[in-house]
Amino acid sequence: MSSNTKLAASIRAIADYPKPGIVFRDITTLLGDAAAFREAVDQLVAPYQGLGVDKIAGIEARGFILGGALAHQLSAGFVPIRKKGKLPHATVRIAYSLEYGVDEMEMHVDAVKPGEKVILTDDLIATGGTAEGAVKLLRQQGAEIVSACFVIDLPDLGGRAKLEALGVEVRTLVEFSGH
Ligand code: PRP
Ligand code: MG
Repeated sequence: MSSNTKLAASIRAIADYPKPGIVFRDITTLLGDAAAFREAVDQLVAPYQGLGVDKIAGIEARGFILGGALAHQLSAGFVPIRKKGKLPHATVRIAYSLEYGVDEMEMHVDAVKPGEKVILTDDLIATGGTAEGAVKLLRQQGAEIVSACFVIDLPDLGGRAKLEALGVEVRTLVEFSGH
């Protein structure tokens, strides 16, 4: 089995969650498997070694888990991008599209400095609405988005294409097609 086939096999599929017809891709099984977690982090950081990345920005909630590991491996700082109302200091906020409706995400106003090289990460990219919001928020604060990386891509939902249209390099480890 190739390493990425093993990674895909370590991700649990939950049928009809959170609603009928949706197959939820649950990375808790990957995170709980020491070899799979290490393999995923090693593969995610490999292309970024030596680029002088300043910060990893992780999207709440599962992006925090990966982002902390990536930041450690790259000797970079970590920036949490959170759902509104969770951060204690002054924030900047942006609305973003969900499959149905909109929500808002925030980060601290001083979380990145203009010109800092930032990699965005999350567990999964689907429609790309969440990641697009994060890219815009980081760019508004002057960050240079070096790349965005995800364990899982759902290519049928178009998120990768949405980010690439914004000029963001996208890296993913496993793809699941269909629903
Ligand atoms: C999921 C997933 C990504 C986002 C991707 O998070 O973890 O963050 O959806 O979807 P998109 O590409 O269509 O925007 P969710 O909103 O379920 O929140 P959570 O991570 O806090 O559980
Ligand atoms: Mg999420």
